[in-house]
Amino acid sequence: MRAAIGAGGAWRGAAGRGSLPRIMTGSLGKPLVICLGNVVADHTFRVEDIPQPPAKIAARSYSIGPGGMAANAAIAALRLGGRAAFWGRVGDDLNGEPLAAALAAEGVDVTGLRRVPGGRTPVGAVLVDPRGERTIISFRGSGLGTDPGWLPLDKLKGAGALCCDPRWPEGVAAAAAAARAAGVPVVLDGERSETRILVDLVPRVDHAIFSVTGLANFAPGCSPEEGLRRAIASGPVKVAAVTQGEKGVLWLVPGAAKAERIPAFPVEATNTTGAGDVFHGAYALAMAERMPVDQAMRFAAAAGALRARDGATPDRAMVEALLA
Ligand SMILES: Nc1ncnc2c1ncn2[C@@H]1O[C@H](COP(=O)(O)OP(=O)(O)OP(=O)(O)O)[C@@H](O)[C@H]1O
Ligand SMILES: [Mg+2]
Repeated sequence: MRAAIGAGGAWRGAAGRGSLPRIMTGSLGKPLVICLGNVVADHTFRVEDIPQPPAKIAARSYSIGPGGMAANAAIAALRLGGRAAFWGRVGDDLNGEPLAAALAAEGVDVTGLRRVPGGRTPVGAVLVDPRGERTIISFRGSGLGTDPGWLPLDKLKGAGALCCDPRWPEGVAAAAAAARAAGVPVVLDGERSETRILVDLVPRVDHAIFSVTGLANFAPGCSPEEGLRRAIASGPVKVAAVTQGEKGVLWLVPGAAKAERIPAFPVEATNTTGAGDVFHGAYALAMAERMPVDQAMRFAAAAGALRARDGATPDRAMVEALLA
């Protein structure tokens, strides 16, 4: 996601370049995807090389904008044709309010984004080299509180899917329970986390979709397929999957003899940051649209590939063109 800092210090998101937030353009009837978890002020530097040993280097370009798993997933669900709401927390520091404004400018409903007094907003420094490979330094925020008591859980009744990342486990536990009670499918981005957090969260969700590192954290020492089996066995999980970058996705359903693989769409990657987040937003939207799982995997893989190719979140027409 690209954005720029405006004169008043607020960021102008991509949707701010002339288009109206979609929430105002006849979005009723589109399924709502609620994304809960992390929003990060991503500072992205394009560099020739990521130096070793440490050195002083000039960046070719710089941008600032909203990142974070759940926030990127919300933007993806929206661009791909849904409505999106973001539930999470920022601090009342210099980064918090512009992040909220940038998400709102994209059309994401931010009434469930809390500004926590005295909190520090999560921040990332993203270094991208000419091959699209990246190094990320992240600060996960502090003083944001863990109590999910203020979440507007009743809104889940009107949602088509809930998409969570593991950065606010108490929030996931509360929202996933309410979603399940309302019959709303829950998708987890099983990203890099402490083992105990993933082991606690996976049985609470319907679709546990890991990154390679996240699956290794969930099931240390297991092969990918064994890790997915362990996720399925841990609770009423309907689908377990691992996204493997340009190797595509491996996924498993209960009772299946073998995991299935969806190959990645071949693209020339320029910036792979957020491909996994976009995959999850697309997959959650597909669940909200009641797409069959194999179709949802292809839809999400196409969205992830376009994000890796362009460094920007695609719209529905672009994904459908690639699928065709
Ligand atoms: N270089 C690529 N070429 C084609 N498809 C890609 C590429 N990178 C990612 N994708 C697609 O997006 C999906 C998610 O990407 P990936 O597995 O890299 O996520 P991740 O490890 O969670 O990373 P992050 O969360 O930082 O984006 C992949 O399974 C694949 O379908
Ligand atoms: Mg990821």
